Amino acid sequence: MAGTSLIILAAGLGSRMNSDLPKVLHPLAGAPMLHHAMQAGRALDPVRTVIVAGHGAAEVEKAARVYDPDVEVVLQAEQLGTGHAVRQAAGLLTGQSGDAVVLYGDTPFIRAETLEAMQAARARHAVVVLGFRHEGPGRYGRLVTQGEALERIVEYKDATAEERAITLCNSGVICAQTSVLLDLVAAVGNDNASGEYYLTDIVQIARERGLTAGVVICDEAETLGINTRAELSQAEAAFQARARAEALENGVTLTAPETVFLALDTVIGRDAVIGPNVVFGPRVTIESGAEVRAFCHLEGCHISRGATVGPFARLRPGAELAEDVHVGNFVEIKNAVLDEGVKVGHLTYLGDAHVGEKTNIGAGTITCNYDGVNKHHTEIGPRVFIGSNTMLVAPVTVGRDAMTGSGSVITEDVPAEALAIGRARQVTKPGMAVRLMDLFLSKKKKV
Ligand code: UD1
Ligand code: CA
Repeated sequence: MAGTSLIILAAGLGSRMNSDLPKVLHPLAGAPMLHHAMQAGRALDPVRTVIVAGHGAAEVEKAARVYDPDVEVVLQAEQLGTGHAVRQAAGLLTGQSGDAVVLYGDTPFIRAETLEAMQAARARHAVVVLGFRHEGPGRYGRLVTQGEALERIVEYKDATAEERAITLCNSGVICAQTSVLLDLVAAVGNDNASGEYYLTDIVQIARERGLTAGVVICDEAETLGINTRAELSQAEAAFQARARAEALENGVTLTAPETVFLALDTVIGRDAVIGPNVVFGPRVTIESGAEVRAFCHLEGCHISRGATVGPFARLRPGAELAEDVHVGNFVEIKNAVLDEGVKVGHLTYLGDAHVGEKTNIGAGTITCNYDGVNKHHTEIGPRVFIGSNTMLVAPVTVGRDAMTGSGSVITEDVPAEALAIGRARQVTKPGMAVRLMDLFLSKKKKV
């Protein structure tokens, strides 16, 4: 099986995050950091994806499988360096044809075009390293070049003053033929300032074996690595700025772009309108021409063409709004399908429900879906009128063209075309209000 394999390094603890959660699982744009690296790698249409996990390996594996069920995970029990990490993949990738690309799980923003440029550069070099220029290059590894050729990579700790003055840095992304990469990492030693097996040493080893190495240079922003919470928040800001710009470019109206928060997998169609202060969690799709008004929180939902949502609405996982549905203020919808033209204007909770087309849900309606132990379904037919403040005690069915009276507690199925009223009948006592008031006042004077 030819084609590119990905090796994603994700074993590090990330101690500077000061967290119990493995670093690569910290959320960025509603997805674990690791998913961003996996998404970047997807540009190469990989035949294999190997994650090298260490700290929190079981959790890392679980999260990786959410993105790609076919991912392979290998354990690096002790973190002895990036070269050692790549070596762990040998058990899985020995004999694999095609190239291998090494990515870091904590470096989320590598662009598809950049990885494609590296792939193209492989026609000229056995080993291709992704570099970037940085005027204050700090502790990054430095790329020592000779004209076009990459001679070696020197880690900051091991670099001379002259080498530290180099501003061409190592991003960490490396590409080579899989068999070559595995041969090279097998030869890496740990005789250096950190006592670690450096992946970066493969360049010099390649040169000694008569192989050539080259550099592809990308923008520094792409190589942003996350080591601290501060860097995580900067990465979030960078992601949001880019995602908003992309949405605008794609024909989405964002009234106040800087207040809208998008997720890695948000999909918004052309001519959709998104008001201020709208937050997108994972798995939201919005069709062309839908409108989401100010202050909505959306997660795991689908909004069809012509639908309007908000202001102040919350759509939770499994909320499916068909065309021309209207969801108004202070409405929460979870695991519920609303057919075409349904109106849910105000102050309502719909959970575990299906609502037929053109049904109107009155203000204050609640599907009482939870009995304290189990969740139950509410089925509401088409063209139903649910009176305000109806409690629908699930499991319950309201048939087509039926009505419920305001304030009803509906515990039994309502047949099609019927009116159901479940509340105490009103009692009216003429003059009673005035007599009561007099009584209360006389009592107050005595005390
Ligand atoms: C590495 C590079 C450096 C480069 C920098 C870019 C080496 C020796 N150095 O340094 O040249 O400028 O990245 O950010 O490669 N990891 C493992 N197992 C290990 C060690 C690391 O999985 O045993 C993973 C980490 O979780 C992380 C990535 O590899 O995702 C990079 O490791 P890190 O320790 O951050 O490398 P740097 O010292 O930053
Ligand atoms: Ca790092």
